[in-house]
Amino acid sequence: MKIISVESLSKILQHHGFDNFMMDLIGALKRDFSRWQSFTKIPRPAMYVPAGVLELMPICDNELYYTFKYVNCHPKNPLIGKQTVVATGQLSEIITGYPLMFSEMTILTALRTAATSALATDLMARKNSHTLALIGTGAQSEFQVLALQLVRDIKVVRYFDIDPKAMDKFEKNMKKQSFKLIRCKNAQEAITEADIVTVCTASKAHVDVIKNNWVKAGVHINALGGDTKGKTELNLNILAQSRVVVEYFVQSFIEGEIQRLSKEKAKELVYAELYELVTGSKKGREEEQQITLFDCVGIALEDYSALRLTYELAQKYNIGEERNLTPKLKDPKDLIAKLALDKVFWKGV
Ligand SMILES: NC(=O)c1ccc[n+]([C@@H]2O[C@H](COP(=O)([O-])OP(=O)(O)OC[C@H]3O[C@@H](n4cnc5c(N)ncnc54)[C@H](O)[C@@H]3O)[C@@H](O)[C@H]2O)c1
Repeated sequence: MKIISVESLSKILQHHGFDNFMMDLIGALKRDFSRWQSFTKIPRPAMYVPAGVLELMPICDNELYYTFKYVNCHPKNPLIGKQTVVATGQLSEIITGYPLMFSEMTILTALRTAATSALATDLMARKNSHTLALIGTGAQSEFQVLALQLVRDIKVVRYFDIDPKAMDKFEKNMKKQSFKLIRCKNAQEAITEADIVTVCTASKAHVDVIKNNWVKAGVHINALGGDTKGKTELNLNILAQSRVVVEYFVQSFIEGEIQRLSKEKAKELVYAELYELVTGSKKGREEEQQITLFDCVGIALEDYSALRLTYELAQKYNIGEERNLTPKLKDPKDLIAKLALDKVFWKGV
């Protein structure tokens, strides 16, 4: 079984190139969202604890693989020097059920979330979008910008975070990019003049990070931080004036911005699930002046695409350690042989 550590994933990205990885991941997402009906899926089971949430994200296709991811969200972790979100994941073959790869998924989650935002933005934002506003410059932020610039010609990034150090870090990491960086005093100033607004903040509460009257016509919003029960980022009135797209209604209704609506209202308001835009059965945007909103919570299918691509590239470049996390047996019924019986039972005699 292949083990993909943080170092191995980093090697894969170095060999393949960041932009190539991101473009291939967007391609993999398109492939997998296009065959939406062929996946066995469930809304992710979540365990709520005082400091955050612990989630398991399983999914299975009907040809090759089953994957799952374990992920948390603990918004106050940075106060004790720990990340808000960490994750690990596994890919198994469905024909035998054997695990093929166990992987780090903290970085992979940032990559797949960015690729998913880029895919939605490409389908929903105006073609002539050049100014991006980014609210929340934490761990996800650079990935978001780097992915979005692959689908739109981003010339200006306006950004704001309540933590000035997070903005310093973002500036340091992004200073070599070709777009202009504009540090803002608050979220309202950041979203002024923006064509695309990406909100990726973390608080365990319903917060109006963006207010309704700040949002101008024609904007596309990616709302990423409202992704679990009791945790949203947008003023509720924004939803009513937007074309709202979610990934997977049954999960988004529990976790997304739409969680504060009644089920009836949410059903009425949600225009499409992302796969319907990917297959072309519905259009992301029909008018320049429309406000579009991708209410993103993160679903298991996106992790499937990311794990599958990682596995394929790990094979291609021969990266990752082989470890016996499942026993290799000459006789598949002789499991106990792996225990070196003499040593286990007669030890000390
Ligand atoms: N939808 C998805 O698929 C997906 C995937 C990964 C993470 N997320 C979510 O994205 C969010 C960000 O994740 P992260 O790993 O970057 O976390 P992080 O803790 O590293 O960064 C979050 C940043 O938001 C800032 N912030 C908090 N409240 C703010 C406010 N009102 N205005 C401006 N900035 C504010 C914090 O100071 C921090 O720098 C989390 O809520 C996480 O759950 C969603």
